[in-house]
Amino acid sequence: MVTDVLTATNQDEVYSSNRLPGYFFLGDFYVMLEIIDKLPPRGTVIQIGTFLGRSAKFWAELFRQQNKIYNIICLDTYDNTADDVFNQHLRSKFAGDIATVTSFLHKKKTNLEIVIDNLKQYGEIQHYVYDIFVNSPEDIQASNIVCVFDDAVHTRQGVKQSFDSWFNRLEYDGIYCGHDYSLNFLEVMETVNNIAAENDLKLQLPRKDSSMYYLIKKRV
Ligand SMILES: C[S@@+](CC[C@H](N)C(=O)[O-])C[C@H]1O[C@@H](n2cnc3c(N)ncnc32)[C@H](O)[C@@H]1O
Repeated sequence: MVTDVLTATNQDEVYSSNRLPGYFFLGDFYVMLEIIDKLPPRGTVIQIGTFLGRSAKFWAELFRQQNKIYNIICLDTYDNTADDVFNQHLRSKFAGDIATVTSFLHKKKTNLEIVIDNLKQYGEIQHYVYDIFVNSPEDIQASNIVCVFDDAVHTRQGVKQSFDSWFNRLEYDGIYCGHDYSLNFLEVMETVNNIAAENDLKLQLPRKDSSMYYLIKKRV
């Protein structure tokens, strides 16, 4: 349950007590910790592709635990476009788990309402309805962006669009990271490899049990 996270006393418990449905796993959680360790004490994270808020919640919780003061800006279309196959996957994976899944499947609430419910205890999170192919990063007012996390569109075009939009807004020494660098998402792998090579950035893939990658923006 969401509230369990607040009373958990160590990181394994934080992870295992979190039942919010979504696409973010234990290995990812440890890569996120590694990234947070490298970030400055204050800043802003741009999270692109929020779904019901699972990874956003981990950002918020881990920043708190590490005594770092962060704004988390969540961007998603929040458009309830999930199809039946996707809903079936959710139902089988999280069957009977929490009320938000039921609400989601029955579309009693919009995704945006659900995600705000899930994350309202974290005052530092803001949500913007944002389509990477439509909106420009200038549409979002934010300063001191030291981390961008992309988990939105898993195509060549999507990965490149997110990077081209947001890398320029990232502070030097900031971290651009993303999810699904894996054989299941060959377009993500290929595009991230190209981005790293073209921009002379060192691709970091810290754990075999995580599809998270990251790139540190060097000073020029
Ligand atoms: C894999 S899910 C994100 C999972 C999430 N990070 C989690 O922890 O569960 C991908 C999300 O990207 C969003 N998305 C899809 N197309 C998008 C677009 N063009 N712009 C922004 N977000 C998009 C979807 O609405 C979906 O919520």
